[in-house]
Amino acid sequence: SEVEKGTYDHFMLKEINDQPATMRKIIQEYQDKDENLKIDGAVIDQLKSSDRIYIIAAGTSYHAGLIGKEYFEKWAGVPTEVHVASEFVYNTPLLSEKPLFIFISQSGETADSRAVLVDVKKQGHKSLTVTNVPGSTLAREADETLILHAGPEIAVASTKAYTAQIAVLSILAQVTARELGKDTEINLMRELAKVTTAITAVIDDAPEIEQIVNEYLETTRNAFFIGRTMDYYVGVEGALKLKEISYIQAEGFAGGELKHGTIALIEENTPVFALATQERVNLNIRGNAQEVEARGAKVCMVSMEGMDQEGDTYVIPQVHEMLTPLVSVVVYQLIAYYAALHRGNDVDKPRNLAKSVTVE
Ligand code: AGP
Repeated sequence: SEVEKGTYDHFMLKEINDQPATMRKIIQEYQDKDENLKIDGAVIDQLKSSDRIYIIAAGTSYHAGLIGKEYFEKWAGVPTEVHVASEFVYNTPLLSEKPLFIFISQSGETADSRAVLVDVKKQGHKSLTVTNVPGSTLAREADETLILHAGPEIAVASTKAYTAQIAVLSILAQVTARELGKDTEINLMRELAKVTTAITAVIDDAPEIEQIVNEYLETTRNAFFIGRTMDYYVGVEGALKLKEISYIQAEGFAGGELKHGTIALIEENTPVFALATQERVNLNIRGNAQEVEARGAKVCMVSMEGMDQEGDTYVIPQVHEMLTPLVSVVVYQLIAYYAALHRGNDVDKPRNLAKSVTVE
């Protein structure tokens, strides 16, 4: 049956609002009746017999992969690389002895990723697809599949698939850690439940976030997103979201990299979105914010309870430090949505873009 927008003006807004329900669905699908994390045995075997993970994806799915790498390395201790599919095909790195390829794709139809999968299979390597669409090309062609359970995503700008990808990767990495006998000191399902509540709180603040758009983005032609560690990866995703639907030129940068070039672009009133959810770099990113502010930038500081300071523009509820992207990204999704809406753009179908890119 055809998916409806219901009471929402756009699929994108509906899909942003779907995220708490998607989180609950994932929690339900990936635990057994004793509330233990549950992943198919064949997938676990793949992970246990690999010495390195190669995540292959494009666009927003690539950005989810960057967060996934943190989980596999920090929790499970498995070395992990993340690659843009279109580059990997023509510029394949030296592979480890027992690689596992993980394809992340909302649609399961991205031609760039498929080209890598075809190659990988020819070479006899193991493959796992993480996708929202059972029966999609990447799902059918890989050895194993994990489903995102996000429900159909119609808007070209990916929202709930990104958070679903991160949640499923966190579960997969936790189970891998458990199977490898590593104690990660986190009750993931409980923390994901907290994340669900926090996402709801951000969505309830949509009017406040629309005000941020009025203040920072109404007339600007460009915007920057800065962060450090995981906040940097979320910034890159925030920039992609903003550019693809509002057409504002946007770039995500590592806070410490600004002074190596990009800071030259800061002028009077240039909007800079800074994210501060990671304790060990909280002071560093705030230092970077001051550097651009001193050169005229208008800084929108998005931080997290417990680490917030007087004057922060928006503060997300406190969640586990490894899971903050699931919440902070929702702020950026809503910012992109309202920026596009205020400019009168076709929010769900931005110019020049297709929902799934089936050409290389
Ligand atoms: C996201 O907002 C984009 N529309 C785009 O980057 C997308 O994530 C990319 O094309 C990958 O698509 P997939 O997840 O269906 O493979």
